[in-house]
Parts: sequence; structure tokens; C-alpha cells
Amino acid sequence: MTKLLPLLSHKGGRSALTCRFRCGDACSHEVANTSGNPYFGDIAARALSRRGVLRAGALGAVVVSAGVAGGLAGAAAGAVPAAAEPDPETAAAGGWGRGGLRFTPVAPNTADALTVPPGYSTAPVVRWGDPVLPGAPAFDFANQTAEAQAMQFGYNCDFVTIFPVGRDRALLWVNHEYTDEAMMFRGYAGGASATDEQIRIGMAAHGGSVVEIRRVRDTGQWQLVTRGRRRYNRRITATTPMRFSGPAAGSDLLKTAADPQGTTPIGMLNNCAGGTTPWGTVLTAEENFNQYFAKGPATPENTRYGIPTGPSSRGWERLEERFDLSRHPNEVNRFGWIVEIDPFDPDSTPVKRTALGRFAHEGATTTLARDGRLVAYMGDDSRFEYVYKFVSKERYIPGFDRHNRTLLDEGTLYVARFAGDSPAAEIDGTGKPPADGAFDGTGEWIPLVTGKESHVPGMTAEQVLVFTRTAADKVGATKMDRPEDVERNPVTGAVYIALTNNTRRVTADEANPRVNNKHGHVLELVEKGNDAAATTFAWSIPLVCGDPGDPGTYFAGFDKTKVSPISCPDNLAFDRDGNLWISTDGNALGANDGLFAMPVRGRERGHLRQFLTVPRGAETCGPLITQDRRSVFVAVQHPGEVDGATPDNPASHWPDGGDSQPRPSVAVVWHTEGREIGA
Ligand code: FEO
Ligand code: CA
Ligand code: CA
Repeated sequence: MTKLLPLLSHKGGRSALTCRFRCGDACSHEVANTSGNPYFGDIAARALSRRGVLRAGALGAVVVSAGVAGGLAGAAAGAVPAAAEPDPETAAAGGWGRGGLRFTPVAPNTADALTVPPGYSTAPVVRWGDPVLPGAPAFDFANQTAEAQAMQFGYNCDFVTIFPVGRDRALLWVNHEYTDEAMMFRGYAGGASATDEQIRIGMAAHGGSVVEIRRVRDTGQWQLVTRGRRRYNRRITATTPMRFSGPAAGSDLLKTAADPQGTTPIGMLNNCAGGTTPWGTVLTAEENFNQYFAKGPATPENTRYGIPTGPSSRGWERLEERFDLSRHPNEVNRFGWIVEIDPFDPDSTPVKRTALGRFAHEGATTTLARDGRLVAYMGDDSRFEYVYKFVSKERYIPGFDRHNRTLLDEGTLYVARFAGDSPAAEIDGTGKPPADGAFDGTGEWIPLVTGKESHVPGMTAEQVLVFTRTAADKVGATKMDRPEDVERNPVTGAVYIALTNNTRRVTADEANPRVNNKHGHVLELVEKGNDAAATTFAWSIPLVCGDPGDPGTYFAGFDKTKVSPISCPDNLAFDRDGNLWISTDGNALGANDGLFAMPVRGRERGHLRQFLTVPRGAETCGPLITQDRRSVFVAVQHPGEVDGATPDNPASHWPDGGDSQPRPSVAVVWHTEGREIGA
């Protein structure tokens, strides 16, 4: 008799369902990084130029996905983005940004609602099951089919970005990270007994969506376009044909019986966060890809990536033998990549860019170095994993698309090593700052591979790119507390790293200063010369998360009686004025997850306030603050995913209310009177 997989106990604020379906109960497994790398304490030591988007920008409707904001701004001005100092007026204002950040913070709560500050409105933009492709049927929870799902908006939305196609029209890109079959289907009894149709629906609900949206009158509200041609609308799923590019394309490590050339992978999986490029494409990140595979040979490399040796939790190997690694051992090497997708060409083939390495990619955000080379920052979201960056060999040339589209195929992949400047004995693991008053220090970017040249002894370039974690182990990278989003501030040039949590940490170091780190922290990194291509940097920790009443927390020195509690920072974004926005995943303080905003310069640095909370059981993803600061988009992922919830006993009815089933959805928040957000 088949039973549901056990819902293992788990730490922090995540439900057991989230743990099981999102990352295959990664928290309950052994730590995959068993390298001898010390925790570092011991080391001491958009296409603005194309397709009318520029015109849209000139009309003031350009919206910027945080990661590339510098690049887009720079491109628009015809200059390398800058890592600029604030203009005197802004600096004098004390805050960071013309409009400041004035709103009444939302109090922590457990409501089954998307709660926003007084004076703001919110509405869903697109929900799981909404028709995407013309001819798609309306959503019908009780009568789902794979054919319908492949034409409808997928499940669990994560990364969100926007490409303007006019002043009041835009393309919305959304990742569909994972499926939760126990919430999608009544009576779901686990992978082994899943019906073929349930498995196919799950595959079709993964991937990503491109949908056209339009502004509602002259407000900050945006709505799904539901009529007319919608020529850009697209669904990408676990079965969409893709191609490899870059130095590992065609490698023996990527060859399978179905693809003897090693160049044409099928589908993308567990796409979490992402970024955009200055030439107007999406970079979407395959994160916990390991859980979809079964019967992996217990090689050191597979172990390092946590590849299951038994059956997969969803049972996909029953329908598609490529997921059975006892038969097709290299198939798993074809996942765990950054995938580039052109939202303006629904017929384009998504490209897995092998030069950016293979790991549990949280995201990839781009900026330009001082000399115009493209830089992509990336986190590997697992406990004790590493922070990476890629620097292209050639420079970005505004408007020269054919050239720019080769930039992510040749360059150098680096991994970060952090060193603290305080004696190790002063880092006591409680979050109490050392005698110099700051968790801070310096660091270096260690090269792993440049094009086809490996910098790691004993590994070829292809091995470094396919088994990047193993390569990073060998060069002494610093084990971090779950590195998620890494984003560059478009105004200051500083780089921010969200470190979500790590309850397995037993030895603190200055960059990961708490043992049993339940609430996470945010690290600020300033590249030497404020140049994104630099190989050394300085860093500090402006935010040690938790309840501000907890002495082990830190809000950049700001008065802790005036800040909001925050736990488990995950996705980062910046508004036009360089204020940092932080979404959370797994609030371990007992309230719902949310979105927070914090100035990072001036008198208000550290004044963190909660801008919204998401409904019960949900996580806040993909925050996007539009360039005109009139709209905030958030992906409300897995509403109602709490222990014991099922379709017969739903824990949330968001967004449709009544006795409806919860539906992961993208929502927009705007000022009811049309003002700028936080102004
Ligand atoms: Fe999918 Fe790293 O959260
Ligand atoms: Ca210090
Ligand atoms: Ca995430």
C-alpha cells in the first residue's frame, strides 16, 4: 500500500509541505558540503536599445528589474553604469532617495490576506491556472488536465520581471519554481501512486510564463491582458526543448542516449529567482533540481549535489525514463544551470549558459564593470554553500545584440572567500558584535575557470563547470548560511547578499556570525574601486535578522525600537533610488512572510520597515519595484502550504476568497491616490 511520504519535522518557519515539495526535504538530509573548507574564521587571512523599449523608457514607463538596474540605467544614458555617489541633494536629505520611504509599517500577523499599509491597494495580476495562451480553458480545480495546464499560468510563482512594450503595456515574466501535488490534487497519495495525468500536470506547471499586462487607467495597478492577439504570451515547462551553450556544451558529461551530442536538454526545473540582461532577456535559475531524479549512482559528484539514490518524490521516472539515473546517469548533469530566455520571441529556444556553472542556482543578476564587461552575481542556495560571480571576456556594446548575446558564453567564473578583521575569539556566535563594533572584513574572488581553461588543479574546465561545487571546495571558498539573491545597488554599486538561515551552523565566523542561525542576515559587499570586475572586496553586515528585541540582531545601528522584525531574507530588490527591498521565506518568528524596505545610506540606513505581509502559509517572492515607483509586484508563492492542509482542508482561500482553493499568484500593490510608493 502506498502512503504519503512522511512529512519530516523541520526547523524554522517553513511547513513540512514546503520542505517536501520545494527542495525535497533538503533540511533533513545531511549537509552536502562535507569539504574540509574552513568556515572562514580560520582563514583569517534590458534591451533599451531594441524593440521600442527605449521609446517606452523615454515615456517614463521603464520598469527595472533590480539586478540589471545599473546596466539599464547606464545603457539608457549611453554610459557604463556607475557605482555613483549620491547627488548632494540626496545626500543632504539624509535618506537615500528623493521620495524617502514613508509608509506606515504593516504589523506582523497571521491573516489569510495580502496586507498592505494604509493608503495602498492590492490586487492579483495573474493566478495559477489563468489562461496564458489563446484558446486555453478557464481554470477548473476539479478537472485539471496536462493539456490545459500547459496553456495556463503555472504553479508556485517566484522570480518576477517586466519588459515594457509601451507606456501602459508590458511583458511580465514569472518563474514557476515547483509544484505541491498534495495541494493541487484531492487525495494525492505520493509519487508512486500518482496518476499519469497528475505527473504530466506537474511537469506542465513547472517552468515559466510570459504574459502581456496593461496598466489600469493611469494608476499603478496592472492587469492581465485577456483578449486579443497577445503575441508574446508563452509557457515554458519541464518538457520544452532547450540548448546548451558555452564551454561545457557538447561535453561528454552532458551526453545522453537521447542527445548524443550533449547540446539539447529538455525542460528546466525548480526555477527560483533570476535576473535580466541589458539586452532584454531573462536569466532564470534552476535551483533544487536534484529532487526530480531517481536512483542516482552514489558518485562523489552526485553526493555533493544531493542526488537521490532511491525513487524521486514525484515519481516522474515512471513516465519519462530520463529521470531514472540508473539508466541515464548524465541526465541530472543537464539541470542546475542559468537559463537565458528571450521574452520577445515566443519561438526562441531557451539557452542553458554553461559558463555560469552548475549548482543550486538561486538567481543571476547582472551589472556592468567599469570597462563595460558584463558581470553576473549568483548564490548557491543550500546550507554551507558559496557565492559566485561571472565576468565576461568581452564588453557589452549597447544596441549590438548579436555580440551581446555571446557575452555569457565566455568569461571567468569566480567563487568568494571572506575574511573577517576581528579576532576569531570575539565572534561568539550570539550575534554580539566584536570589539571593533562591526562584522566586517575583506575578501577575494577566486577564479575557477576561464573559457576552456581550468584554474582548479585536477579538474578540466568542463568538470569545473558541471561539478562547480566540487571545484569551489578545492580552492577554499567560504561556506555561507544559504546564499540566495545577490544584487547590486543601482545607485551606490554596493552588492547585497541575502543569507537566509542555517540552523546547522555550530561554528560562527565573522561573515556568518551566529550559530544555529534561524533568522539569517544580509551582507554588503563593496568591490575594490567599486568595479564589479574587481577580484578583491570589502564587506560588512548591515542586517542581522530576527526580533529587534533580541540582542543578537543588528539593524545597521538604527534605533531598534523603530524597526520591524524580520526573519529569513531571501529575495532582494532595489527601487530607483537605491533603497533595499527584502522579501522573506520561512519567517521563524511565527508570523506570515513579508516584504520589507530599508534605506542603505544616510541617517535612515537600517530603518527597516515591513511594507506588506502575504497570506497564511505563503512566501514572498520576486519583489519588483517599478522604475516609476508606482507599482510593487510580488509573487505570492504557496499560499496555504501549512502542515495538515489539503484541498479538503485548505489553510488559505487567497486570492479568490470564499471556500476556494488557494492559488499561487502574482499581485501588484499601488498607492490608492496614485502617489509614488513610499513617497
Ligand atoms: Fe527557491 Fe532559494 O529559494
Ligand atoms: Ca570586525
Ligand atoms: Ca528564493
